[in-house]
Amino acid sequence: ENKIYTLAIESSCDDTSAAILCNDKVLSNIVARQAIHEEYGGVVPELASRAHQQNIVPVVDVAIKKAGISKEDLNCIAFTQGPGLMGSLLVGGSFAKSLSMALDIPLVAVNHMKAHILAHFIDEEGFDKPTFPFLALTISGGHTQIVKVNSFFDLEIIGETTDDAVGEAFDKSAKILGLPYPGGPLIDKYAQEGNPKAFQFTKPKVDGLNFSFSGLKTQILYFIQKNVKENSNFIEENKADICASIQHTIIQILMDKLKLAVKETGINQIAIGGGVSANSGIRKTLKEAESKYGWKTYIPKFEYTTDNAAMIGIVGYYNFLENNFSTNNVVSKARIKF
Ligand code: KG4
Ligand code: ZN
Repeated sequence: ENKIYTLAIESSCDDTSAAILCNDKVLSNIVARQAIHEEYGGVVPELASRAHQQNIVPVVDVAIKKAGISKEDLNCIAFTQGPGLMGSLLVGGSFAKSLSMALDIPLVAVNHMKAHILAHFIDEEGFDKPTFPFLALTISGGHTQIVKVNSFFDLEIIGETTDDAVGEAFDKSAKILGLPYPGGPLIDKYAQEGNPKAFQFTKPKVDGLNFSFSGLKTQILYFIQKNVKENSNFIEENKADICASIQHTIIQILMDKLKLAVKETGINQIAIGGGVSANSGIRKTLKEAESKYGWKTYIPKFEYTTDNAAMIGIVGYYNFLENNFSTNNVVSKARIKF
């Protein structure tokens, strides 16, 4: 069998990542996280692009060494074209183009959001691959989408957020509670000890398969302000219950739309992707939906949920097989058509 070695580069936000795949198997997947942003309570684009510049060469170098190959073995280079922060995308994109030119091997420009979905096709022991067609729920710090996936190359957004992304709903709620950025994982952690029905928040009314999360954030802000006025220790005394209730509301919002999407499309295979799919409550609820609603759900390996280059590599590989290459004058795009 032919062995195709793909080098993949992801630099859309604040993580610099490089991976090597042999066909659909991951040989290495290196992620350099940028701790600098924690001090600012969010990603600072200018600092992110500078850190990518410092990290990109060592990260690629480690990925190649860890895979046990040399750069002359590479057959293909895949990189994140967008969406993302322009300054960050430019670093990975320019690097990928230069190396593809130097090694004289083909280049594949990859859509980051599609990659979050197609990460399910990485060959990984203990993880099933979905069959087409299936529905994907992509939930990250920047996006919230329900996508109908007909094939590797035919993906159709059937619902998305009209304002904040799910990750932002988690992070902004965490900020209101005085938790450090990014607060999503901390809400998850405290929620595990709390009662999800302790406090009630109303779900937004949004037509069809679209989402809205900005109203929930405002509701939580007023709820906290009112209670802290009456009892200055309110947050400390109720942290677990507050987190569990917020998380429960967010999960219900997602599940309501998923149920509607299943009803409308007749497809009951659901795959999740994006950083928020690391959330333990979401994972548990989706697993339970298998027996509760007869769905088949796919939850990726933790490593492939948050931003990583392996997911870019799998898209690169499938494009390589179809000879779908980008020309060397392809440009990075902060916003990109799906
Ligand atoms: O996909 P990702 O790594 O980066 C983007 O492309 O946005 O997603 C990051 C988001 C952040 O908002 C973070 O708070 C959230 O994913 N997140 C979580 C959890 N782990 C990461 N949210 C809730 N529960 C978690 N366990
Ligand atoms: Zn992402």
